[in-house]
Amino acid sequence: METTREAGKEYDGNTFHRSVMCGEVVEFLDPSKGGVYVDATAGGGGHTKGLLDAGATRVIALDMDGEALAYIGHNLACFAERLSLHFNNFRDLDEVLSDQGVKEVDGAVFDLGLSWHQVRSPDRGFSYQGEGPLDMRFDSESNARTALEIIRSEPAPKIARILSEYGEERRAHPIAREIAANRSKIKTTADLAELLRRIAGPKGFRKTAMRVFQALRIAVNDELDNLKQGLEAACAHLKPKGRLAVLSYHSLEDRIVKRKFAAKEESGSFSRVTRKPLRATGDEIKRNPAARSAKLRVLERA
Ligand SMILES: C[S@@+](CC[C@H](N)C(=O)[O-])C[C@H]1O[C@@H](n2cnc3c(N)ncnc32)[C@H](O)[C@@H]1O
Repeated sequence: METTREAGKEYDGNTFHRSVMCGEVVEFLDPSKGGVYVDATAGGGGHTKGLLDAGATRVIALDMDGEALAYIGHNLACFAERLSLHFNNFRDLDEVLSDQGVKEVDGAVFDLGLSWHQVRSPDRGFSYQGEGPLDMRFDSESNARTALEIIRSEPAPKIARILSEYGEERRAHPIAREIAANRSKIKTTADLAELLRRIAGPKGFRKTAMRVFQALRIAVNDELDNLKQGLEAACAHLKPKGRLAVLSYHSLEDRIVKRKFAAKEESGSFSRVTRKPLRATGDEIKRNPAARSAKLRVLERA
């Protein structure tokens, strides 16, 4: 197994990320005749590699995580002539394409959420398991507020709104009050997890922690606004018959994708290739449990 060393860490192809529904994405985008493709969320490079292997002339790959780009740069070095890597938020896709002199693309893929590597790196603060700083920024070099800064500075009603809107947490208010009352004692992911365990009890802990961590992560990274803007930019640059494939992992993301695709179809310039979202096969879910919640939607420009 090939490994790469970056900033003192060692990854191998199986531990950085395992791509979800890669075969389906490549089949829908069909790069077999060549063409320019965008991978808006390069991560471990699985979809990028799939597109290049299947014949894409060029892949423009974006990620907000410098570690992901370093990993891909090393791992997919053999594709260097057909692959460009961009340390950018996909909400700025317009700018990235115009800097590259690219007006239209044949297809684009957005594979939302987190890579395995991010989830499993305690120092990134994404996971309620293990102990690390409450960071949660995709771009850890940015000056965006960390989850800890949000917890430390926002009043309880604002924290409750975050938990309710971005985590769909029914007990957002009592949890937010408890967080605010203990904010000076919360420093790490483990401190927050411990507080949630106290509130939710052993039975409810896992789901509560998932919802609260998801909510904070979405707030830190402004994920839902990014998604709306990124999808708009991708649609604006699709060639006729060009396709946009989006993999989402929770209902908030999927709702945005579903509504955007329906609105685009209504405009008359696009049609939905998938009426209902496609799900991963049982086999894939067995191999990669992260695929269980994936929903794939595809849109085509008329
Ligand atoms: C699920 S992983 C992608 C995995 C990738 N498709 C693969 O096959 O290896 C999601 C990636 O999207 C990146 N990401 C999340 N939001 C982003 C944004 N707004 N702009 C660019 N990258 C983003 C994350 O840093 C993460 O690396």
